Amino acid sequence: MTKLSEQRIILTGATGGIGIELAKQLVAQDCKLGLVSRSLEKLEQLAGQLKTDKKNICLICADITSAEGRQEIIDNMEKAFHGYDMLINTAGIMDFTSLIDQSDERIEAVFQTNVIAPMQLCKKVLPYMLAQNKGHIVNIGSTFGSIGFAWFTSYSTSKFALRGFSQALRRELAETPVKVSYIAPRAVKTSLNSSAVYKMAKEVKMNMDNPDFVAKQILQSIIKDHKEKYLGFPESLFVRINAILPGLVDMATRSQNKIAQKYIR
Ligand SMILES: NC(=O)c1ccc[n+]([C@@H]2O[C@H](COP(=O)([O-])OP(=O)(O)OC[C@H]3O[C@@H](n4cnc5c(N)ncnc54)[C@H](OP(=O)(O)O)[C@@H]3O)[C@@H](O)[C@H]2O)c1
Repeated sequence: MTKLSEQRIILTGATGGIGIELAKQLVAQDCKLGLVSRSLEKLEQLAGQLKTDKKNICLICADITSAEGRQEIIDNMEKAFHGYDMLINTAGIMDFTSLIDQSDERIEAVFQTNVIAPMQLCKKVLPYMLAQNKGHIVNIGSTFGSIGFAWFTSYSTSKFALRGFSQALRRELAETPVKVSYIAPRAVKTSLNSSAVYKMAKEVKMNMDNPDFVAKQILQSIIKDHKEKYLGFPESLFVRINAILPGLVDMATRSQNKIAQKYIR
């Protein structure tokens, strides 16, 4: 079991749909939060909503895909809280498109944001966590990281990579006190999803959760020290089926893929 109270936490993606709810629920647990986003305006708006003493939060305006941004995060956490106990990699981007229509720049941006930056952030926090004999890395994945979804190829591939990274790093750190978790929500009602995704989701009857409920489930998983957690049923079952019988899932998703194709840009 992990006790959240008084943990010093780096939360990337803090201004997003899931991040805002995580921030609200973490301050309610008396955590000290380093809130990361590229927009100071959005961070200040979020800070205004958080019911906590201002000394418990630190606003970090940083782009996680740049070395300077990642250094900014470390420097701010050291200045505000003399270090950190947990890193929650929540920041992410997604495109709903055919691979042919996605620009090379966007493919690279999806990988930089969803995979490479989280890996580089882990690399940055690990020496301190190992030295203090305590630490927890939490990577926010997706059902799409276990089931390859048509029209979300770059995003799906990036989340598969994040899941693989989490597993490999967990094994690399097995003899240390640093924990690694991979927590994968199903679709969530946030602005990560464009209006086209919402229209498609409605027609194919895709389950979509509210972000406050998802944040609650993520925190429960952290508290219970889940190594890998797939949120939502039957999606968590489909993850297992796809791993064993992908041909079955190929067949089952064909009609859904055709419907979804109508909505891609
Ligand atoms: N929504 C879903 O359906 C869903 C389902 C499963 C998993 N997830 C995963 O859950 C996580 C959060 O998703 P969400 O729905 O909350 O997304 P969101 O509402 O679009 O928020 C994305 C967050 O990432 C931040 N971000 C993006 N690029 C960044 C960069 N280069 N540097 C720093 N921050 C950056 C954004 O901050 P700024 O733009 O302010 O910089 C924002 O805070 C993602 O990893 C996503 O893949 C989402």
